[in-house]
Amino acid sequence: MSLGTITGTTTTTHFSFIVEGTAQKFEYVCFNHEGKQVLAQILDLKRDEQKTLAYCAILGYHDGSTKSLRTPPAPGEHVEIAPDELISKVIELKSEHGGFLGFLDGKNIPVHINLEEVLTKHLAVLAKSGAGKSYTVGVLLEEILKKKVPLVILDPHGEYSVMKYPNEDDREKLKEINLEPLSFIKQIQEFNAQNPLRLPVTLDSQELVNILPAKLNNQQLTLLYSCMQNCDHLDFDELIGELTLQESASKYALIDLLNYVRRMNIFSHAPTPLNEIVKPGRASIVNLKGRAPEESEILVAKLCKELFEARKRNLIPPFFLVLEEAHNFCPERSFGETKASKILRTIAAEGRKFGLGLALISQRPARVDKSVLSQCSTQIILKLTNPSDVKAVANSVEGMTKETEDILPTLPIGTALVTGVVDLPLLVNVRTRQTKHGGEAASIFDQQIIEETADPVILPTTTLKDLELMKNDDEEVITYKIPAVLLQCQGKAPFQLLIELNQGKIVRDINNAAFSEIPELNTLSPNQLAVVQKMSDKQWYHAADFADLGLDFALAHDMLQKLTKKGFFEVNKDKFKVKEDIPLDLEEVAFFGKLSFKEIKGEQIPQIISIEEVKKKISFMVPVIGEQPCSIIWHKVQKVKKCAESSDQEEESLLEMQ
Ligand SMILES: Nc1ncnc2c1ncn2[C@@H]1O[C@H](COP(=O)(O)OP(=O)(O)O)[C@@H](O)[C@H]1O
Ligand SMILES: [Mg+2]
Repeated sequence: MSLGTITGTTTTTHFSFIVEGTAQKFEYVCFNHEGKQVLAQILDLKRDEQKTLAYCAILGYHDGSTKSLRTPPAPGEHVEIAPDELISKVIELKSEHGGFLGFLDGKNIPVHINLEEVLTKHLAVLAKSGAGKSYTVGVLLEEILKKKVPLVILDPHGEYSVMKYPNEDDREKLKEINLEPLSFIKQIQEFNAQNPLRLPVTLDSQELVNILPAKLNNQQLTLLYSCMQNCDHLDFDELIGELTLQESASKYALIDLLNYVRRMNIFSHAPTPLNEIVKPGRASIVNLKGRAPEESEILVAKLCKELFEARKRNLIPPFFLVLEEAHNFCPERSFGETKASKILRTIAAEGRKFGLGLALISQRPARVDKSVLSQCSTQIILKLTNPSDVKAVANSVEGMTKETEDILPTLPIGTALVTGVVDLPLLVNVRTRQTKHGGEAASIFDQQIIEETADPVILPTTTLKDLELMKNDDEEVITYKIPAVLLQCQGKAPFQLLIELNQGKIVRDINNAAFSEIPELNTLSPNQLAVVQKMSDKQWYHAADFADLGLDFALAHDMLQKLTKKGFFEVNKDKFKVKEDIPLDLEEVAFFGKLSFKEIKGEQIPQIISIEEVKKKISFMVPVIGEQPCSIIWHKVQKVKKCAESSDQEEESLLEMQ
């Protein structure tokens, strides 16, 4: 079906046609030229009262390989929608070293990108937060892992280690594209707090000065250099010992700084062997989550330096280095220099000579060091809205036209503009992941949306991820959601109480399952109340001790027995004491945790007690000035059930695990 007719002046690379049907921007079209079917792409559309004009770039024709035109197309020639076969042949979307990235936008044409090229020419993945950078990088990493190329992933949010696990959630979607969920549990090793990465202490004085977290003054520098001359190899203990012996007053600040770096536990005399980090078929993930920015910088700087040097001397195989949040490690110069800036610039400029490929990922392209960004020949750009970021991308990408620049803010999540693989940028719908995607980082991309849609929750300090990693193979982690209310109370100072609404107990500490009863003082008579209050020091009392309250022995004894029955007291012969788990001073059982907003799935424990009921009891003892309903999140490791047994018992015992 004809889409229109070529008109006006044509060249061997561009032409226009008058649109007769409906044509869309970036649509692939074709026309006949000297007996060949030629592929072209609509770059822009212009319309006036009389006609719509499409402006196209010529991509070439297939004749064994892709060829360019030598003569311009003839005006009057018909233009049609290009058949899929022609597109994939001319654009050469399949290659020997191809990694399956996704499908050409709006088509059923798979896009394979040449990994060899990506790995040797550096890659940048740029987009605003939540647009799909990490997801897309995950797809690429899957393809790279399948090819057994060694990977090192610097992971500030700790989101990549879930790539160990198969994406079972999308099994059906994967089937449609002939893929299956995939597990890389054997290939991925994670360095984190439990399995720390240790880097060699081999630092010369220059390096040491560079990594110290504060700038040294001249006196300190002189002192440090003179001490280092006396140490034959750098050893923090030895150096600090040496400094301690010095007379100078400058030594104290210096010793503090050295101690600070030593405590980071990054440097060791028994470092992780570099060929354990970089190994064919292996991905090493360096989880930086929880480290202070300064620590991450130091770690990244030293690790990159070691790896680059080792690669130069061919001590480790060629590999691919992935750097998330690149703007934090190699910022544009006006945003300052980090401890890693220098080595990253070196790797960007020289890495490819030595088979060290860099993948930079950033949500703020304008803030990434331009000299580094411009070294990335392949770029995957997803939705980008900030004008200065769009500008930065346009300036660093070859072949980026005004037309392609314009679509960046309109790209849907998961659709990428891929440049540098073929001459013209490709619009690709990134395929479904075979491995799990770490949603954690994505969940902070838009705090506002999260707060509107997510539940207020109280989280345990041991995360689900930790437990997933710690549990045995025959165990599973079950997440429970326990209904609760967080009360603001006015004591001597305001304090919080957390009360679960299944059994109505005060929760002091969710990690240690520490519960207390709410004392039901509101059910007591004035005399009983006076007795309990007198006994709030939790000492042993005898019936004779209440004469000051106007109670004779018999009356007092009777009352003590009644209150024991109500569960307030424990008894020892004829003495009574308020039970330990009944807090008469509620500030003693205050809750110090914080509320978070998060969508968390789990088994819902039923609410039995109402908030009103709880408030009535509490406000009898202390004024309640605020309330926030929430869920307590509870992860429990248990043996995987072979068959579908009832789990009622588990739930009941949940709150009793003291
Ligand atoms: N190609 C895709 N297919 C399906 N979902 C996607 C795709 N890309 C992104 N997403 C969804 O968008 C969310 C945010 O993507 P993510 O890669 O984490 O963003 P960021 O750019 O901040 O790294 C993901 O959790 C995922 O649900
Ligand atoms: Mg991300």
